[in-house]
Amino acid sequence: MATIYYTATSLDGFIADEHNSLDWLFQFGELEPNTFDAFLEGVGAIAMGSTTYQWIYDHDFGTEVDDPKPWPYRTPTWVFTSRQLPIIAEADVRFVSGDVRPIHKDMASAAGDKNLWIVGGGDLAGQFYDCGLLDELVVSVASVTLDGGAPLFPRRIDPPLKLLSAKPYGHDFVELHYSVPGQ
Ligand SMILES: NC(=O)c1ccc[n+]([C@@H]2O[C@H](COP(=O)([O-])OP(=O)(O)OC[C@H]3O[C@@H](n4cnc5c(N)ncnc54)[C@H](OP(=O)(O)O)[C@@H]3O)[C@@H](O)[C@H]2O)c1
Repeated sequence: MATIYYTATSLDGFIADEHNSLDWLFQFGELEPNTFDAFLEGVGAIAMGSTTYQWIYDHDFGTEVDDPKPWPYRTPTWVFTSRQLPIIAEADVRFVSGDVRPIHKDMASAAGDKNLWIVGGGDLAGQFYDCGLLDELVVSVASVTLDGGAPLFPRRIDPPLKLLSAKPYGHDFVELHYSVPGQ
């Protein structure tokens, strides 16, 4: 079981633009071959911050959504927030706040021998890293820059990560897989 920050980023290190838009990413359509479905199969618990949850809510469930979609995950999901967020009826979501360590324990016991996925944002992944709880990063780097937005990983990484693989996907992405030393 590993705790993995799996995300897509711009070349200059942003996972959303300054308006929290992912249009820069969706312009590429489905990644082929798609590593995400196989990754998700191995995930037993998910964590995300409130901006990310609110993005899913606004795009898939909010009152202005013409064509609501089902909650995308069958896996239990922990959403970090200090606020009251809208609830999505069919989603197995637990709202939590504060220290990530006890939440990580709860996630690990729910996941069994499956992996924990830290969806983002970058600071939340950093909170797991700060506590020595982040094992791997899988980052798909898109061939665009954003010049601002939500940071990929607002931390100083030292000692360096260990590069496990670097795979190109078409002309637009390279997927970088790192392990965190000492984990
Ligand atoms: N490119 C990709 O593949 C990808 C992947 C994931 C996300 N995204 C996008 O990237 C953006 C990320 O937004 P973001 O940087 O703001 O990160 P975020 O982690 O989604 O949200 C940050 C917020 O979560 C809450 N939070 C975080 N840690 C907490 C803790 N320990 N206890 C309580 N609350 C906590 C705080 O808000 P409150 O306490 O005020 O609620 C904080 O401001 C979103 O637009 C998302 O859609 C992109």
